[in-house]
Parts: sequence; structure tokens; C-alpha cells
Amino acid sequence: MEVKDKIIDGKAVAGRVKEEIKHEIVERGIRPTLAVILVGDDPASTVYVNNKKKACEFCGIESKSYELPFETTEEELLSLIDRLNKDKEINGILVQLPVPEHIDPDKVIEAISPLKDVDGFSTQSVGALSIGKTGFVSCTPAGIIELLHSYDVEISGKNCVVMGRSNIVGKPMAMLLLRENGTVTVTHTRTRDIKEITGKADILVAAVGKPRMIDESYVKKGAVIIDVGIHRLDPEKNGGRKLCGDVDFDSVFEKASLITPVPGGVGPMTIAMLMKNTLSAFDMQNS
Ligand code: GUN
Repeated sequence: MEVKDKIIDGKAVAGRVKEEIKHEIVERGIRPTLAVILVGDDPASTVYVNNKKKACEFCGIESKSYELPFETTEEELLSLIDRLNKDKEINGILVQLPVPEHIDPDKVIEAISPLKDVDGFSTQSVGALSIGKTGFVSCTPAGIIELLHSYDVEISGKNCVVMGRSNIVGKPMAMLLLRENGTVTVTHTRTRDIKEITGKADILVAAVGKPRMIDESYVKKGAVIIDVGIHRLDPEKNGGRKLCGDVDFDSVFEKASLITPVPGGVGPMTIAMLMKNTLSAFDMQNS
């Protein structure tokens, strides 16, 4: 098997998803609109927001950008969200996280109308996913399911292990794999004998937030490895590499049957799914 045959090309799959969305938007002559809010100037968040705006432009989605100073109060932010909730021209609202410490992220998330919650973070969206109702699904886990489908990875009946229990990735990921009839285990910082569990995974999703934590000793031969982590590295000390994931790619590669790289794996899919959710928001509001 050639090396590239094992690598899940998230950039290519995301490109196809965005092409389909663009095609549909052009064909229907519509103009979905996404409001993108960034508070402060965190460099990583600025890069993510710019990538989201670029993807909008590619797909024919209008992005309205609200770049607010770090000092913005919670009240000011909530009042902007309220205004955007009521604005019929706006189909989706995204507040880039993290927000500065003086703002409560939960209040911000809950302030977004569930009809415009394209990130899928609100209680209503998460609840809908848990009980199998329609609603917006968090973009990263939704993108991972799309990747698994694109590579014909069977989920039904498989041992799926999700490492990490965040509201944005771990929990919705577990719900989605369950919806696909996987047998799902979630591990976290209090899990005992973690390698016993991960070592039985047919599909292993790493969302632990620790650079290169998962080496080959965690992995069963033939497993499909999905790496959600993204961490900055000093290129001088890492053979020119600027980024790495939660998985130690070089160590795990041999054992894996398929593996996502960092960058170019899960990351591009998150943005593609955001585009998809924005188009769905437009449809829901105009049906
Ligand atoms: N910060 C890190 N990931 C995300 C995401 O998917 N959406 C938003 N809004 N903020 C994030």
C-alpha cells in the first residue's frame, strides 16, 4: 500500500463539499448570509475567522464580519447577537471561541437563536442531536462523520473510542457515532487503564488537547485514527514542522489502516460543515 493511500485527505473532501455547496447556491441563485463575530485579536482565532470568511466567499455565502475590541462588554456582545437574531438578512451567527475572560461563553452561546446556531453549540441543538431530532450539529464531529463516509469506513457495530468529553467535540462525536450504530466509549482524564480501551478501538477519535499524546501503544493494528488536535510547534526543534495533532503521527502511522494528518485532516472539514449548516439555516428560514 502506498503511504498516501492511508492518509485521509480532509482538504480534498472539504474541497468537494464546498464545490457542491457553491454549485447549489449558484444554481438556485440564492445568497445565504453568515455573521461572524470575533472579540479581541487572538492570533489563532483571527486565522480561523479569516479561513471561515474565505470559505464563505468561495461558496457564494455572504459573510458579515463583526470584529470587536477585547474590551467589549458581555452586555454589548449580547445586544449585537440580539440584533442579528432579529435581522432577517442574517441566516447564521457564529461567535468565535474563546471569548475574553470577562464574557461568559455559555451566555453567548445560549443567546444565539437556535434557528441561526450554525455552530450547533446551544442546549437546543445538542439536545436535538441527543434524541435524534433535526438540528444543527457541531461542525467538527459532523465533518469527521463525513470523512468516514467518504472513505467508506463502516461505523455500524464497530468499537468507536472517543478520547475527550468536550461539549464541542467529544460529546457530540459520541452521539453521532452512536447514531451511526457504533459501539461507543468515551475516555477522559479520570479514565483508568486507558490503553486497554483505546487498544480495542476500530475507530479512534483523539480530542484530548495534548500534543502527540497518542502513540502506537494506544492503538490497535488496522484502526482508523482521527486526530482532532492542532498544536503549534517550534519548527527549529521539529524538523521544519509547524503543527502537530494529539496523535504522534510517525509512531501511529504503521499500525493505522487510515489516519488523518495535521494539518489537512479534520480542520478543513470543520469549515466545510459550517458552510453546509449556513445553507441549511437559509433553507429552514425560507421554507
Ligand atoms: N473555536 C474553536 N473551534 C471553534 C468552532 O468550531 N466554532 C467557534 N465558534 N469557535 C471555535
